Amino acid sequence: MEIEEAGVIVERLYADVRPYEISHDSRSQLADRDESFRYGEIVPTALNEMLREYPADDTRILYDLGSGTGRTVFLAALLFDFAKLVGVELLGGLHRAAQRKLGEYDAQIRPGLPRAKQKLIIEFRNEDIGETDFSEADVVVAHATCFQPLLMERLARQAERLKPGSRMILVGKSISSPMFSLEKVEPHEMDWGRTPVFFLTKISGPCDSEELP
Ligand SMILES: C[S@@+](CC[C@H](N)C(=O)[O-])C[C@H]1O[C@@H](n2cnc3c(N)ncnc32)[C@H](O)[C@@H]1O
Repeated sequence: MEIEEAGVIVERLYADVRPYEISHDSRSQLADRDESFRYGEIVPTALNEMLREYPADDTRILYDLGSGTGRTVFLAALLFDFAKLVGVELLGGLHRAAQRKLGEYDAQIRPGLPRAKQKLIIEFRNEDIGETDFSEADVVVAHATCFQPLLMERLARQAERLKPGSRMILVGKSISSPMFSLEKVEPHEMDWGRTPVFFLTKISGPCDSEELP
C-alpha cells in the first residue's frame, strides 16, 4: 500500500489517542523515573524508508520493541507484506491502547483490505523487551533513543538469540554485540529532528564462529 493511503488509515484509527498523555499517566505510577520509558513516535515517511531496506514477504515476522500505542505496527502492516507483526510494550496504559486499536482495526479496517493483508497476524504483548523472546523475528525495529545502557545490554543479549540473517533497525542507539554486523548508519528525519538509524544484520549464532576441538 502507498504511504499516503496507509497514513490516512492510521491517522483515522488514532484520532482519539493521546499517546504522550497515556505514557505520562503510566510513567507516573512507576516506582523509579526510568528515562527508557520516554515516549516518541517514528514518523511514517521514516518508517517507510527504513523498512524498504529489507523487502518483506508473506513469510516474514516483524517485532517493534517498545511499541507504545502500536501505531508503528499498524503502519508497517499496511505498508509491507509481513506474515506477522508483534508489538511489545511494558507500560500498561500504552499496551491497552494498542489492544483497543487492534479491536477497531479488526472490526473496521481489516475486512476492507486486499485478501492477502486480511490474514496477517498482529499481536501486542505487555512484556519487558529485556526479557521477551523475539527470536522468531526476521526484522526487529526499536525506537531506542532514550533506552538506558542497562536496557540496551539486556536487549543485546535477547537479540543474540535471533537467527543468522535477521535484521535490526535501531533508532537513535545501537547495541554492542559481536554477533551483529553494522551495515550502515543513516540519518532519518524524526519529528524532533534528524536522528541516526543503525541497520544491523545477525551474522552468527553462539556456536557458529568457534572451531570445535
Ligand atoms: C520512543 S517510544 C517508541 C514507540 C513506538 N515504537 C514508535 O516508534 O512509534 C519507546 C517505547 O518503549 C517503551 N519501553 C521502554 N522500556 C521498555 C521495556 N523495558 N519493555 C517494554 N517497553 C519499553 C516505552 O514505554 C515507549 O513506549
